[in-house]
Amino acid sequence: MDLGLKDKRALVCGSSQGIGKATAMALAAEGVRVTLLARNESSLKSVIEELPNSSRHNYLIADFSNPEEVSHIVRQYIAAQGGFHILVNNTGGPKSGALADAESKELEIAFKMHVICNQILVQALLPFMKEACFGRIINIISTSVKEPIEGLGVSNTIRNAVANWSKSLATELAVFGVTVNNVLPGFTETKRLDSIITVKAKKAQVTEAEMAQIMRHYVPAKRFGRAEEVASAIAFLSSESAAYITGINLPVDGGRTKSL
Ligand SMILES: NC(=O)c1ccc[n+]([C@@H]2O[C@H](COP(=O)([O-])OP(=O)(O)OC[C@H]3O[C@@H](n4cnc5c(N)ncnc54)[C@H](OP(=O)(O)O)[C@@H]3O)[C@@H](O)[C@H]2O)c1
Repeated sequence: MDLGLKDKRALVCGSSQGIGKATAMALAAEGVRVTLLARNESSLKSVIEELPNSSRHNYLIADFSNPEEVSHIVRQYIAAQGGFHILVNNTGGPKSGALADAESKELEIAFKMHVICNQILVQALLPFMKEACFGRIINIISTSVKEPIEGLGVSNTIRNAVANWSKSLATELAVFGVTVNNVLPGFTETKRLDSIITVKAKKAQVTEAEMAQIMRHYVPAKRFGRAEEVASAIAFLSSESAAYITGINLPVDGGRTKSL
């Protein structure tokens, strides 16, 4: 299937590893010119080297815990290089733990990283998308917007804020040819999942292998997902063919979410 993405431009955040990196690979394979964004410059450089036609791609260094910095760096880049047709809002997940134990500062930090940065990026990218009559905004959040996940209290809270932010925007922007959708990864083999398994295994006093087995048991597909599988969904939502899909939550979770 031709996704109709050749020579489109994408800003893919949180793309030095994991789901963001796999997304950059998937979009680049479709002929998209990708700009990566994350904190770790050496990882970003090696991702660029791995992308097909690496010289067509670029990277930006910015920290989502500093929204003013993100705004400045992205706006400066757009002024010099032009805008983006596709925005993938993605960054590191909030610290795990029970909500009752979380300090209010943790909620504040997560809100900044996930809601404020997304808002800043949308406002910076929207003028170009409107002019192009083509925009795809895809937010990588979590199945917790449908069913809160035990031990991820701050994340559960903030992901729903992003989901409602996204749904509100979808309604406002559809008329401009700009779609806004959320992709909800289930257990996906990345460093984030490794760290969640470590915390859970310690708490349950089992080995990490045992904990991984317990977690797989709850997935109807009986396996963890691959970052490339999440990236395929993101690439499709970025495409011309997905023009009439907006305001949705798309789980990519091997059937783990029990609700519709
Ligand atoms: N993997 C799963 O099972 C799973 C399940 C549900 C939801 N999710 C969510 O999906 C998203 C991506 O997950 P993942 O598994 O790919 O995570 P990951 O492997 O931890 O990758 C996170 C990416 O975000 C970047 N990042 C982290 N903190 C940042 C910051 N302050 N500023 C800018 N960039 C930052 C990291 O790069 P740098 O360190 O270079 O900045 C990295 O490229 C996360 O929000 C995660 O919680 C994941």
